[in-house]
Amino acid sequence: MQSQKITINDKCLNFNPGQTILEVAEENNIWIPTLCYLKGATPTGSCRICVVEVEGRRTLSPACSTPAEPDMVIHTESPKVVASRRDILELLLASGNHNCPLGSGREKDWKAAQNDDSTELCPACGDCRLQDLAVYYQVTGEKYVRSKEPEPHPPMETVNPFIVRDFSRCILCGRCVQACNEVQVNRAISFGYRGTESKIVAGIDVPLRDSDCVFCGECVQACPVGALVEKNARYQWRPWETEVIRTTCPYCGVGCQLNLHVKDRRILKVTGVEDGAPNKGRLCVKGRFGFDFIYSEDRLKTPLIKENGGYREASWLEALELVADRFKEIIDRGGPDAIAGVSCARSINEDSYQMQKLFRSVFKTNNIDHCART
Ligand code: FES
Repeated sequence: MQSQKITINDKCLNFNPGQTILEVAEENNIWIPTLCYLKGATPTGSCRICVVEVEGRRTLSPACSTPAEPDMVIHTESPKVVASRRDILELLLASGNHNCPLGSGREKDWKAAQNDDSTELCPACGDCRLQDLAVYYQVTGEKYVRSKEPEPHPPMETVNPFIVRDFSRCILCGRCVQACNEVQVNRAISFGYRGTESKIVAGIDVPLRDSDCVFCGECVQACPVGALVEKNARYQWRPWETEVIRTTCPYCGVGCQLNLHVKDRRILKVTGVEDGAPNKGRLCVKGRFGFDFIYSEDRLKTPLIKENGGYREASWLEALELVADRFKEIIDRGGPDAIAGVSCARSINEDSYQMQKLFRSVFKTNNIDHCART
């Protein structure tokens, strides 16, 4: 495919036919803000925050959904563009409950607000794209506020174990709908109602737990504001308090890449690594929410030996010797095929490999399987 040329902010750049202005800009490290754009999904061009000025065009064009064309001359931060973005941000901030600190020292504002019982700051403060953009473009959110009384919004939904839906903080960008329908293809949520009544609905506007939602949490990861938040992590952390540690999901053999958000040596939430293979940011319910077993009081930490109808704690040495002795006894009595092994799906591949080697080469039986086959 022959590349063609466009100019963005006085830089002459190559692009391939079919690329959008946003894609060309990102490829060349030119920042254009986005809100509704979700990588990998069809661009909807609905929020208009990514507008850019294309010389010769009367109106501003959304970079996320406008194809790059040969010889285009584009400005991403012209006065007209900045004025438009500031207006959009003012409108978004005026249309919901966005009581986030908008000063440049959000950490300080957040600490001050923590000591002020009269304010319940947004749980996404510090992890919100709308707030970041409002700070960047120095928008106060006061330009279009009509009254000091908050607008009525549907009540918050907290009746499932994983996700809190706060409709008052939703900016209707539609990223959650795309994450559910296009990325995970669960088709559990969509836009519902019209005009000022518009909201994101599950099924026929039922709570998530009564819908087709499988709680993969992809919508939470896609939400750029505080409308969808992990229930257990809500108000438990701010980004500057956590360390992000990349690891591999322990559940099945796919090897999805996770980011653990850790505060005081405790995992508070898990997100998918956006550009990491094989999952490219996507996770299932277990990978995203199934980590609380780590801190369970019931978790076994020492081997238990069954005796007289009960269990007693034992050392690893004692337990392993007992298992080895029992294997020997059974094989002596019934031959190698009298035993079988089932390897654990949470083990790493190398451990499963060693287990089948132990059964086939040492015990001389092919009775070996893996519980993920269920
Ligand atoms: Fe392009 Fe919303 S990000 S229109």
